[in-house]
Amino acid sequence: MRLSRYFLPVLKETPAEAQIASHRLMLRAGMIKQASAGIYSWLPLGFKVLKKIEQIVHEEQQRAGHIPMLMPTLQSAELWRESGRYDAYGPEMLRIRDRHDRDMLYGPTNEEMITDIFRSHVTSYKDLPLTLYHIQWKFRDEVRPRFGVMRGREFYMKDGYNFDLTKEDALHAYNRHLVSYLRSYERMGLQAIPMRADGGPIGGDYTHEFLVLAETGESEVFYDSEITDLRFGDREIDYDSVEQCQAVLEEFTSRYARTDETHDEAVFAEVPEERRRTARGIEVGQIFYFGTKYSEAMGAVVSTAEGERVPVHMGSHGIGVSRLLGAIIEASHDENGIIWPEGVTPFHCGIVNLRQGDSDCDAACERLEQALIAKGLDPLYDDREERAGAKFATMDLIGLPWRITVGPRGLKTGVVELTNRRTGESEEMSLEAAIDRIGQIYSV
Ligand SMILES: Nc1ncnc2c1ncn2[C@@H]1O[C@H](COP(=O)(O)OP(=O)(O)OP(=O)(O)O)[C@@H](O)[C@H]1O
Ligand SMILES: [Mg+2]
Repeated sequence: MRLSRYFLPVLKETPAEAQIASHRLMLRAGMIKQASAGIYSWLPLGFKVLKKIEQIVHEEQQRAGHIPMLMPTLQSAELWRESGRYDAYGPEMLRIRDRHDRDMLYGPTNEEMITDIFRSHVTSYKDLPLTLYHIQWKFRDEVRPRFGVMRGREFYMKDGYNFDLTKEDALHAYNRHLVSYLRSYERMGLQAIPMRADGGPIGGDYTHEFLVLAETGESEVFYDSEITDLRFGDREIDYDSVEQCQAVLEEFTSRYARTDETHDEAVFAEVPEERRRTARGIEVGQIFYFGTKYSEAMGAVVSTAEGERVPVHMGSHGIGVSRLLGAIIEASHDENGIIWPEGVTPFHCGIVNLRQGDSDCDAACERLEQALIAKGLDPLYDDREERAGAKFATMDLIGLPWRITVGPRGLKTGVVELTNRRTGESEEMSLEAAIDRIGQIYSV
């Protein structure tokens, strides 16, 4: 992409309405534009990152054996009356009436709809286990939408639902989700810690929230500092292996880590004092086993091998896809702008031409651009007639992790400069070496 042809409406001024860094930076970098309170248009740069995050979620869900589909945003109130949640949900639900006076709603989540799909088509234990998921816009009429995409009213969420014959099988599905979530967040360059959460009216121990530590987080969290040393890394896992998935759950949830809703001072006191931490966190996902709550209310039953009819065991598992942009930026920025982790960066690297119109510089930049594209990479070439300072400021603001700078002085000795956005370190090298290096970084 050539910056002169792109749509990147960066702002010079810091928007007054934005209280936290990620919100400010997303507005300044021309990633989003507020349409109304808690509702945003995703401008090209923001849209690109949203799609990258979505893609990682898809890949990791499918790696775990979960099946993608798509349900609509608008739902009929009928199903929610069956589960009893139409009245229980409260003012967060956006209720709509169509021209035939039918009650509709903009889905805040999809348990009812997926249970209806399941009960319409699945009748036998032979079709289990089954986990379906989708990534779709949700609407919750939050009292206080704020912090940009972090707490929106319209937001993009992955929600998955498992259907299993027994509680044991459903807990394996729960563990698979935990593993796949750990992998997903790490690929996004994030550490998200599973913390014991509140099961709400259904209760039970089988819910964890994934929290990214950040001062601006809305949740207060308490944890054993040892937990931040854990990494899933690139280990192989067999998602069908009950033992392997259970072992990961135990590894990542045996130390104290809870949100304020489940925090217990007495239990926390058992953690050695020097390891006790109190901090704030951003909830980027939640997994939940809730048993037969919906299957009983809505008649989602299957026949067992013995011919008995039993309600299926279910769980639901969410990732806040649009919130993740905010969380990643909170965790990775500096005073000059965003610093994208390689896994989600909107462009793999920036190319800055210090003397646009100089035939050597232009030719070198074009060669770089073409070579990177030929490797399957997606560079952003700043080919505008602008001062070097302005070009660097834009690159720093939008946070591409690598920048190649091409100038007439370097070209005389056959070098360009490769700069790491995070460390600020620059290295001179030949054009070919720079192309190779970027290729290595992205393993292409
Ligand atoms: N208003 C929102 N804006 C953006 N993302 C959201 C919002 N509400 C929830 N999410 C994301 O969707 C994920 C799954 O939804 P879930 O139903 O668990 O949300 P929640 O627990 O109600 O969230 P919160 O406690 O932050 O209101 C959350 O972990 C979060 O990352
Ligand atoms: Mg939650």
